[in-house]
Amino acid sequence: FAPRHLLSIADLTPAEFATLVRNAASHKRAIKSGAIPQSLIGSLSGKTVAMMFNKRSTRTRVSTEAAAVQMGGHPMFLGKEDIQLGVNESLYDTSVVISSMVSCIVARVAKHSDVADLAQHSTVPVINALCDSFHPLQIIADFLTIYESFTPKAHTVSSLGLEGLKIAWVGDANNVLFDLAIGATKMGVDIHVATPKGYEIPAAMVDIIQRAGDGVTHAGKLIQTNVPEEAVKDADLLVTDTWVSMGQEEEAKKRMKAFEGFQITADLAKRGGAKEHWKFMHCLPRHPEEVSDEVFYSPRSLVFPEAENRLWAAISALEGFVVNKGKIVE
Ligand code: CP
Ligand code: NVA
Repeated sequence: FAPRHLLSIADLTPAEFATLVRNAASHKRAIKSGAIPQSLIGSLSGKTVAMMFNKRSTRTRVSTEAAAVQMGGHPMFLGKEDIQLGVNESLYDTSVVISSMVSCIVARVAKHSDVADLAQHSTVPVINALCDSFHPLQIIADFLTIYESFTPKAHTVSSLGLEGLKIAWVGDANNVLFDLAIGATKMGVDIHVATPKGYEIPAAMVDIIQRAGDGVTHAGKLIQTNVPEEAVKDADLLVTDTWVSMGQEEEAKKRMKAFEGFQITADLAKRGGAKEHWKFMHCLPRHPEEVSDEVFYSPRSLVFPEAENRLWAAISALEGFVVNKGKIVE
């Protein structure tokens, strides 16, 4: 029996993705009002969630540990100094050994092929906690944030009622953008991406994003440009991330220069013609070069609710992939 893994939003049907977001929303409402859903209480009792992280993390680590505890499970944090992962022992051996003792592996590694390898040999679900290509837990939280902040239309089981919304991503084409664009395509949300020349979404990834819309009645469209103002036109949401992802530190100087003019500011939103009600999102950690303080700390900014939503996303994902063994149901 092969476990079901969550390596990217691309692994989910639109109905499954929408259900994970809706479950996160309803668990959030219930738990915040003091009524913990019966189905969650002790749902991970006696189960260990191994967290293999070979990169730093604040939100992913804290949200996963807190989610596992709220569900009665035991999170076991295994940092890169703690275990032999990829340094003194192969991924294959690590994966077989750890999965023989725990109920789930949440892994933050560098290469997508590493987390895919782990999943291939693991006998328990592997949840990707960020690799160079995807960040599914972040995108469940991001769509929860969008769902809560924009009044959704009536929706079917396969959608969140967000069709027709427009995201402008201004900055680097990275892991967070790729899964965000996959989620947007599935939910009928258009995404216009502005990157400097030479930093566009790689062709193979454009393919994956576009294929996410296969069979979707109202698939979101992906448009790329090198002009920030063009991406921002008529946008409901302006989104960005760091210009220098973990592992790219050696390129920092070159990137700072290449991304000049790509900072999200109130002036850019005005010049570009964003919708009057535009909001701002960022997965964090944030650096001032990619977004001005004026925007980041303004009432338009959803960054702190977005960060909190990582907890509800983690609960929803652990429920779907560990408690319910990959069957994603309301
Ligand atoms: N957004 C996010 O994944 O943050 P961390 O790197 O702090 O986990
Ligand atoms: N793109 C960033 C996201 C961090 C959550 C990185 O990979 O470092």
